[in-house]
Amino acid sequence: MPAGRRPAGPPPSAGPPSARDPGVATVLAEDRSPTVTARLAVPGAAQMRLLGARLAGLLGPGDLVVLAGALGAGKTTLVQGIGDGLGVRGPVTSPTFVIARVHPSLRGGADLVHADAYRLGSRLEVDDLDLDADLDHSVTVVEWGEGLVESLASGHLRITIDRPRPAQGAESARAPVPAQAPVPAQAPGAGVGGEPEHGPDDEVRPVTVAGYGGRWEAAADRLRAVLAEQPG
Ligand SMILES: Nc1ncnc2c1ncn2[C@@H]1O[C@H](COP(=O)(O)OP(=O)(O)O)[C@@H](O)[C@H]1O
Ligand SMILES: [Mg+2]
Repeated sequence: MPAGRRPAGPPPSAGPPSARDPGVATVLAEDRSPTVTARLAVPGAAQMRLLGARLAGLLGPGDLVVLAGALGAGKTTLVQGIGDGLGVRGPVTSPTFVIARVHPSLRGGADLVHADAYRLGSRLEVDDLDLDADLDHSVTVVEWGEGLVESLASGHLRITIDRPRPAQGAESARAPVPAQAPVPAQAPGAGVGGEPEHGPDDEVRPVTVAGYGGRWEAAADRLRAVLAEQPG
């Protein structure tokens, strides 16, 4: 589990009930091997957005993208690029007061559903979000969704961003917040969503892209081609 992970709930390694129950034969997406995996080094925030925009060219209604990586790794930056590539209404920002936002398409294509599962501790809470209501006609991207949302779709793209040097203040920025705690006022200079601005925009961030399920098996060549275009 990455440092700074959501405060409550069972660790993903505990696995969902069906994975622990040997009587259930369902193979869960996160337990499968990826059909395609690639690693790349993304040299800056602009290139991270470009990667997102290029990936958006492969994404359509029903696609699920799960983003993993520590606070400040670049997950939201990547989603901004996906939003640009899809041509949806922005701005795409870190959701704090809402857990999921719908960005409607401005050109009659798939909407973008952008969720942040950081504060969600269990699949039950994920169910409450009703992400599956929009899934079929949207591209759904979930930050911190690893181990929580994969079962919503038969396949998914998992993108893991590493942040070699932890964000300053990252440990406290998303510290556990009791449910009844007042929402803190946004600090001056804080990023959208109350997160701190994180250092320079041009740090190399290792990114691993893995496609799961038949959907990405079928699109493996196109995915590789898109990733091969990426600098780094
Ligand atoms: N290679 C990079 N890719 C993405 N973001 C980067 C990169 N280098 C520096 N940054 C900076 O790191 C921060 C990433 O923030 P954000 O996307 O909100 O992270 P997360 O959503 O993972 O918490 C931004 O301030 C961005 O400018
Ligand atoms: Mg974010």
